[in-house]
Amino acid sequence: MEIYLDNSNIDLIKENISWCPITGVTTNPSIIAKENKVNLFEHLLEIKNILSNTKKLHVQVISEDYDSIVKEANKIQAILGNDIYIKIPATKDGIRAINFLSTHGFNITATAIYTTMQGVLSALSGAKYIAIYYNRIENNNGSANEIIYDLAKLPQIINNETKILAASFKNTNQVVSAFANGAQACTVSDEILKSFINNILVEKTIIDFKNDWEKIYGNKNILDF
Ligand code: G3P
Repeated sequence: MEIYLDNSNIDLIKENISWCPITGVTTNPSIIAKENKVNLFEHLLEIKNILSNTKKLHVQVISEDYDSIVKEANKIQAILGNDIYIKIPATKDGIRAINFLSTHGFNITATAIYTTMQGVLSALSGAKYIAIYYNRIENNNGSANEIIYDLAKLPQIINNETKILAASFKNTNQVVSAFANGAQACTVSDEILKSFINNILVEKTIIDFKNDWEKIYGNKNILDF
């Protein structure tokens, strides 16, 4: 089971990896564009450095045609290293590029997946992850849970050659449903990551513990005994 942060803000990445057991960071052109025209590779190298060798970084290509996707993938890998995950939208040109790049040893994350068959083709093409756009599917009257459930039965997924990386979430329940239906990974915003633990019942429980303790022991803590 893996949780990713879907963000490319340096401060938020540092803050979240300091407390949360995330597997890594996912980005896309919209996410990078929020960072105010940063120097792309300087920014990505800084993220890579923060994540060190222990966490994964997924970076998306910008071009849409096969030749340019392959060239961009080569450049991304040459600068960011062989352990980078290259996100490629599962279009016709994208699937062709996923096939070619996977057989040449690139780690590929197929993205912008709205249908079961996009996921099937991406998995068959050798993608290591397939990014299913949960909330956008639901907004389009589809069932993200059914798509994830069906894909989870593919031999590639069962054998862990391809992982379902659910994305595009608007609330915690969607994340829980994605995992329950067979997603091995979910990528979430900073707000959703925090909402996993920001819960009024948890806060009340902590206050009750503190009040009960202080009535008897004042402000002593374990180190005072
Ligand atoms: O990782 C994909 C994700 O960033 C898309 O999310 O919220 O724009 O639908 P959203």
